[in-house]
Amino acid sequence: QQQQLRFDGRVAVVTGAGAGLGREYALLLASRGAKLVVNDLGGSHVGEGASQRAADVVVEEIRKAGGEAVADYNSVIDGAKVIETAIKAFGRVDILINNAGILRDRSIIKTTDQDWDLVNDVHLKGSFKCTQAAFPYMKKQNFGRIIMTSSNSGIYGNFGQANYSAAKMGQVGLANTVAIEGQKNNIYCNVIIPTAASRMTEGILPDILFSQLKPSLIAPVVVYLCHESCTDNGSYIESAAGWATKVHTVRGKGSVLRPSIEDPVTLEYVQNAWNQVTDMSQAKHLNAIAEASGSLLEVLENLKSADKDAVEDTFTYGNR
Ligand code: NAI
Repeated sequence: QQQQLRFDGRVAVVTGAGAGLGREYALLLASRGAKLVVNDLGGSHVGEGASQRAADVVVEEIRKAGGEAVADYNSVIDGAKVIETAIKAFGRVDILINNAGILRDRSIIKTTDQDWDLVNDVHLKGSFKCTQAAFPYMKKQNFGRIIMTSSNSGIYGNFGQANYSAAKMGQVGLANTVAIEGQKNNIYCNVIIPTAASRMTEGILPDILFSQLKPSLIAPVVVYLCHESCTDNGSYIESAAGWATKVHTVRGKGSVLRPSIEDPVTLEYVQNAWNQVTDMSQAKHLNAIAEASGSLLEVLENLKSADKDAVEDTFTYGNR
């Protein structure tokens, strides 16, 4: 019999935990012994208004089930205040799940500055501010688990969601660097790409999917990523419907764009090489920026040592 994964002694902050996915994360963590900060501004799904009720209801649910939780009603944009609630109540912060979110869907032409700013502030700046505030405590403890919440709307784009797509892809970039800066202090940061039925996706997801996509099916994946036994750092995990997978960026083999190091790159050479530039048949995942710059050195070395005719030949015959 496998031992239960426990979070005793851990303090978890879940933002936007008053509903949907965040609520499920908070309930599961609390049921496994974590002390919870249930953060929720309690506004509408387009970011209007505020109410304490959303967070209070979940805190009550946790307490009724025998767990420990406090409410926090700050906007995640005031990340320092959110983390302060954890420190005041429990003296530490081990887990931060950046989950709070809103939508302001509009086509590009109709998107106002306010639609852009509010969506980016809540998702992207909010995740940064909460992470920044939690970081010193996690460093001192030599332990931290941070989750960023991305979306397939960011990864693939979605009509009417320019602001949201940008903010959600921003979480991926943010996570990449948090993962690097946290690594030596055992602070790991991973990204969840969920699809779930919530007020956010009501009327957007097809009905046949909506009823099946319970947020509770994703919570164990996200909570597992927050456990000390999970050593993933910088992973993007997509999950929905009781299924999960890792998602990667890949880079093609590419093509040189000139015969030798002395030659310029010409527009026509680019046109001729384009099939090879965009050929993904030998695409690979790179693990670090150093691999990307390292491969550039190799390109230069090859060009320098190139026998001009040989490069032209291999280029022409498409063997590269
Ligand atoms: P939800 O609307 O049920 O929950 C979001 C919660 O965040 C709400 O309770 C809301 O009051 C709170 N919130 C909003 N602005 C806040 C702020 N400034 N400060 C603190 N709390 C705030 O939505 P759902 O679906 O549970 O979404 C959770 C996260 O997952 C969001 O980041 C969303 O973008 C992301 N996501 C959801 C998908 C889905 O299929 N449901 C798909 C991809 C991403």
